[in-house]
Amino acid sequence: MRLHLPGLLVAYTDEGEGRPLLLLHGFPLSRRLWRPQVADLAATTRVLAPDLRGHGQSDVTAGPYSVEQYADDAARLLDALNVTQPVIVAGLSMGGYIALAFQRRHPQRVAGLILAATRAGADSAEGKAKRDEAAAAARAHGARAIVDAMLPKMLAPRTYQTRPDLVAEARALMAPTKVTGIVSALAALRDRPDATKQLATIRQPVLVLHGSDDQLIAPSEAEAMTRALPNSRLALLAGGGHLLNLEQPAAFNAAVRTFAASL
Ligand code: MLT
Repeated sequence: MRLHLPGLLVAYTDEGEGRPLLLLHGFPLSRRLWRPQVADLAATTRVLAPDLRGHGQSDVTAGPYSVEQYADDAARLLDALNVTQPVIVAGLSMGGYIALAFQRRHPQRVAGLILAATRAGADSAEGKAKRDEAAAAARAHGARAIVDAMLPKMLAPRTYQTRPDLVAEARALMAPTKVTGIVSALAALRDRPDATKQLATIRQPVLVLHGSDDQLIAPSEAEAMTRALPNSRLALLAGGGHLLNLEQPAAFNAAVRTFAASL
């Protein structure tokens, strides 16, 4: 589905009924990341999954973007859909940074948070420099430069041997992203604030979901977030990589369902 917000055409999935579950994808992906979640979880909840600005079928507006802007886009989508009740906000990786921004800016709209394959801290100086290098590579060589650099780390090492279909799917999720969307998102990643201190202030229940074999964000980040959050639970999926929702949909969905039922 598509909907015009002022200044942004947003493409989104809206399936099922019940308490809304807002799914925020990572970089440089699209809402198709949530393929294994949509059909399954829509049996018990209303699944809302937008393509973030600059990704998928949503508008590629001029950048740079910010995690706050992505979060406000999501809030505006909820407004447009007349979703007034608090929602469960689930974000994977960059989607997790955005979920934290959403909680900062729209706390009354959050029933619970799911932070998957993500972290609370900001980029180091070295990390920020790498974002700029990645942006330069994307400008010079196109999305392919980013896909080739990221694909070997998106899944658990074992998945590359056992699941060529998932490797192809991960590539297909990233490959269509436009250079402007990539470069603008890299600025949002680079400039995102440190949310570590925010964690202690989050009153809502939080499910932290992480793969033990995540090559992009270490499980120690998930453990640290879980310790800092007053009301949280960690589900560490053994053998899961960065895109753990694709690699282990049954375990991922079961954790989400249990969490949603507990609210
Ligand atoms: C993501 O998967 O969304 C990004 O890799 C996160 C990041 O680079 O920090």
